Amino acid sequence: MKMFKMAAVLAASVALPSVAGATDLEVTHWWTSGGEAAAVAEFAKAFDATGNKWVDGAIAGSGDVARPIIISRIMGGNPMGATQLNPGKDADELIKAGLMQDITDLATKEDWAHLLRPKSQLDSCTVDGKVYCVPVNLHSGQWMWTNRKVFTDLGMTPPKDFNELMADAPALQKAGIQPLSLAQGWPVGLLVQDITVALAGVDNFVKVYKDRDIGIASGPEFTKVFEAVAAARQYAPADKMVPQWNEAIGLVIQGKAAANIMGDWAGGEFQVAHMVAGKDYDCLPGLGITPVLNTGGDVFYFPKSADPKITEAQLVLAHTLVTKEAQLAFNLKKGSLPMRADVDLSAANDCMKKGLQILDHSTAVFPNDSQMMDRDSLNQISDLMTEFMANTDMTPAQAQAKFVDIIKNAPK
Ligand code: GAL
Repeated sequence: MKMFKMAAVLAASVALPSVAGATDLEVTHWWTSGGEAAAVAEFAKAFDATGNKWVDGAIAGSGDVARPIIISRIMGGNPMGATQLNPGKDADELIKAGLMQDITDLATKEDWAHLLRPKSQLDSCTVDGKVYCVPVNLHSGQWMWTNRKVFTDLGMTPPKDFNELMADAPALQKAGIQPLSLAQGWPVGLLVQDITVALAGVDNFVKVYKDRDIGIASGPEFTKVFEAVAAARQYAPADKMVPQWNEAIGLVIQGKAAANIMGDWAGGEFQVAHMVAGKDYDCLPGLGITPVLNTGGDVFYFPKSADPKITEAQLVLAHTLVTKEAQLAFNLKKGSLPMRADVDLSAANDCMKKGLQILDHSTAVFPNDSQMMDRDSLNQISDLMTEFMANTDMTPAQAQAKFVDIIKNAPK
């Protein structure tokens, strides 16, 4: 019954090839932590309800591991039915090579341009006026997460921002608590980026990452950032770094660490642990210093297939991902904001409410790094920050000079 209903909705909204029968669609993504797995299961459930079958192609180990695997499979002629990527430049080469399905007709018929917000997300899916992906959420990277009990047990007040955390850090350390947990790889880059946005401000961050303003990158606002990172190094030492971002959040959940800096997807882990935002833990956008959101997030692309049944199932999936029901169920578990403004968010937790408030205040919303710079340059920055955090002999001035070189050489 449900399948007929879905077919009728689609037939009314977009011309689909008329191929009958259920289709298995392999969907790749890197959602393997507790919160992420719970969230993506909602998409799988919604797609299965159309009569098709979501064949889960989860790739463990975060986007850095998954992205090259996804891209090389498509390039190499072994495409999946659909895949997660981030909004931005990651699929540019695949689109140029004609390997991705154009879903403009569906996007137009369903009026995604008005249905989905903010505009930046659909813009990121659009190349030369054609839509190639469907944005499923708005995920922002600039959050600090703290375990309240860690502080109150020590007779301390939970910090309201990163500066207060740094002031508390010596006392926490003395009590055997790691002030700041950290995971290896991209989370180090994210930590530094979040400190940059908080201390140098959104405008300067965008001027450097988007406009490649070397004067600002080498100037005092950024010197302040590198100095703050150097001061934070002792509280998140290299020998205490854990392999994965969710393990670092796990240390905060278990009360072994006081805080972590991570995107709002961390909220899913606290939910799985049955902790309540604003009671058991705090989520502080912009590290509590500059409340901001960026327009990061996740999108799904649909590699071209010679099989018309796959093509049809891809359109059914694209449609399903933006339905009210799927948007709500997925985003509540994921810790991200839904793409549609017309979903009932009465069940939103404190963190999501804070995010929605910022989203309505559009000046505090700025582009994700992947929307401004190519992945190779971003990886170079991440590697540099990893070296800077781990090597206490590297001075802030040396790190800043290397950073400026990467910005200078990043392709526009
Ligand atoms: C991001 C993605 C998020 C989250 C995070 C950690 O790239 O946008 O949805 O999953 O990685 O896995």
